Amino acid sequence: MQRRDFLVGSAVVGTGLGSALKTAAVQAQSVSGKGETKMAFEQPPLPYAMDALKPFLSEEQIQFHYGKHHAAYFKNLNALLEGKPESAVSLRDVVIQAPAGPVFNNAAQAWNHSFYWDCLKPRGVAPSGALAAAIERDFGDLAKLRAAMSEAAVKLFGSGWAWLAADKDGKLQVLALGNADTPLKHGLEPVLTIDVWEHAYYIDYRNDRAKYVEGFWDHVDWDFAAKCFAQATG
Ligand SMILES: [Fe+2]
Repeated sequence: MQRRDFLVGSAVVGTGLGSALKTAAVQAQSVSGKGETKMAFEQPPLPYAMDALKPFLSEEQIQFHYGKHHAAYFKNLNALLEGKPESAVSLRDVVIQAPAGPVFNNAAQAWNHSFYWDCLKPRGVAPSGALAAAIERDFGDLAKLRAAMSEAAVKLFGSGWAWLAADKDGKLQVLALGNADTPLKHGLEPVLTIDVWEHAYYIDYRNDRAKYVEGFWDHVDWDFAAKCFAQATG
C-alpha cells in the first residue's frame, strides 16, 4: 500500500447496501491489516515525530495543526457520516463524490492534510526519474516549478492549498485552490501540496506566509511525489 492510500472506512455494512459498497467496506477493513472492524474514518499517524521538521515547523506548530485542526476534520466527518452509506467507502471516494457542503469540506480537509504530511520529510530529497523529466518538460527546471508554486501559494487569497497535479497523460500543472478544494475534484491527480491555511504556520511564522512557503522546499519528499505521479499516469 502506498502511503497515500489512507483509505480507512467503516466495515459496518447494512443489509440494504449495494455490493460495491460492501466490497469497498471489505477492502477498507483489509487495509487495516488487523482484521478488526473500523467504525469510522481514522486520522493516519503522522509519518514522523512531531519535532522532526524543526526548525521549519516546531513541535508546537505540528501539535496544533495535526493534533487539533487535522483531527477535527476527521471528528466532524465521522459525526456527519455516522450510520450513512458513505462511511463504507474510501475517504478519497467520499471527497470525489460528495457535493459541496459540510461532508465535502471535512472529507477533503481530512484527505488533503494526510496528503500534505506525506509530502514532507525531515530531510528533503531531490526529484528523480519520470517526475524529474516531467518537471523539466513542463516547467523548464525545478527552480521554475518552485517559483510558480510558491507564487501560487503566497498569492492565494484567503485559505487554501497550492498544488502540483498531473492529468492522465502526465502533464503537470500548478493550481491555487481555495478552502478545501483539491485536484481530485478536477479530474487531476495530486502530486504535491502546500497547505496555506493560516493554521499551517501561525505559531511559527505569524502572518509571514512567504517565509513558511520558502522553508517548505527544504523538506519535500519528492519520492512520495514521484509515486503519486506514477499513479496519475499508470
Ligand atoms: Fe491545515
